[in-house]
Amino acid sequence: MSQFTISVLPGDGIGPEVVREALLILEQVAKNFQHTFTFNYGKVGGVAVDETGTPLPQETVELCKNSHAVLLGAVGGPKWDQETPERRPEAGLLGIRKALKLYANLRPVTLFESLIHASPLKREVVLDTDILIVRELTGGIYFGSPRERRQGRDGLEVIDTLHYTEKEMERIIRKGFDVAQGRKKKLTSVDKANVLESSRLWRETANRVAKEYPDVQLDHMLVDNAAMQLVRNPRQFDVIVTENMFGDILSDEASMLTGSLGMLPSASLGVGGPGLYEPIHGSAPDIAGKNVANPLATILSAAMLLRHSLGLEEEAASVERAVDLALEEGYRTQDIGSEWERLLGTAQMGEVVRSYLRSPIKS
Ligand code: NAD
Ligand code: IPM
Ligand code: MN
Repeated sequence: MSQFTISVLPGDGIGPEVVREALLILEQVAKNFQHTFTFNYGKVGGVAVDETGTPLPQETVELCKNSHAVLLGAVGGPKWDQETPERRPEAGLLGIRKALKLYANLRPVTLFESLIHASPLKREVVLDTDILIVRELTGGIYFGSPRERRQGRDGLEVIDTLHYTEKEMERIIRKGFDVAQGRKKKLTSVDKANVLESSRLWRETANRVAKEYPDVQLDHMLVDNAAMQLVRNPRQFDVIVTENMFGDILSDEASMLTGSLGMLPSASLGVGGPGLYEPIHGSAPDIAGKNVANPLATILSAAMLLRHSLGLEEEAASVERAVDLALEEGYRTQDIGSEWERLLGTAQMGEVVRSYLRSPIKS
């Protein structure tokens, strides 16, 4: 029996709906394995802007720092799209990643066998998809300065800055090699070395670090080709390591191999402090408040939280198994289902997964 403190940041849109289901799952896990989880709620994103005037109140940062792990829903929405850059909900998310030094974002792209027909891609293409995208999360064009809009001679002009230090590249690439060692020992480093100086240093760094991992096969791939290869032949990939923005884009694309963006969880890890766990999708304003969002990405993120931050492997596996059972039995939310399947709402899908956690025997 152990005791853990988890910060919960539901955020905006479907965030609170999917986080609720993940928390009920964690409560069931606590019961099954006799742990005590204390959930401390904090504000981030649009709700925080509305209530405190900033997307990331200092109180939220402190709350997260004083916990074993953070579970986050999603931030953003049309309501805040006209805010100044500092008051945008997304700045809150970037801020908490930076404050907790969460440089390594793990995004597993795993196909549940029973969802093989949910993908818009052919069965033969998506069969056995099992990729881990390792995305750099606290550097690159997301954080570089200057970042500004100004009046130039020919009218408005804008600057975004892509900045990386060699050290930042090295630690995420190393993470890629480390996780590849525990998998199929194949690492694809994705860059744009034919154009970008940052990518050229990235490639050199990957080649240098590779010498310390002779058991891992390293390949380089240009990002445009990688986007194509992901849908042509996803089985060629084991671990993909890439910089912040490429990882953002490729992971949304890769999610469709598993049937839906609503299936992909993520873990953001730093050095020692609490990890942050969130689905890779956003606040989905188009379906918010309708009880139709798929909660599985967030439930699977809770499983990653159990594994990576609390060291509870058996508990994590029990959650993944419950999700698998629910899918095997044909339970579907609308994003992964068709009319003839058992379409469930967000809360109902959560309840089905919970029922398999309570009694893991397939009926
Ligand atoms: P989105 O990921 O919110 O939605 C894209 C599409 O996928 C929408 O059609 C949505 O309905 C669908 N979708 C997403 N999650 C789903 C789920 N769980 N179940 C079923 N369908 C799901 O991306 P967007 O529409 O480009 O962005 C909306 C807002 O979310 C923006 O403000 C954006 O900045 C923000 N955003 C936040 C995060 C985050 O908090 N991590 C991530 C991405 C986008
Ligand atoms: C994600 C999101 C965020 C990102 C946005 C909302 C800042 O798209 O978590 O993938 O680009 O990192
Ligand atoms: Mn994204």
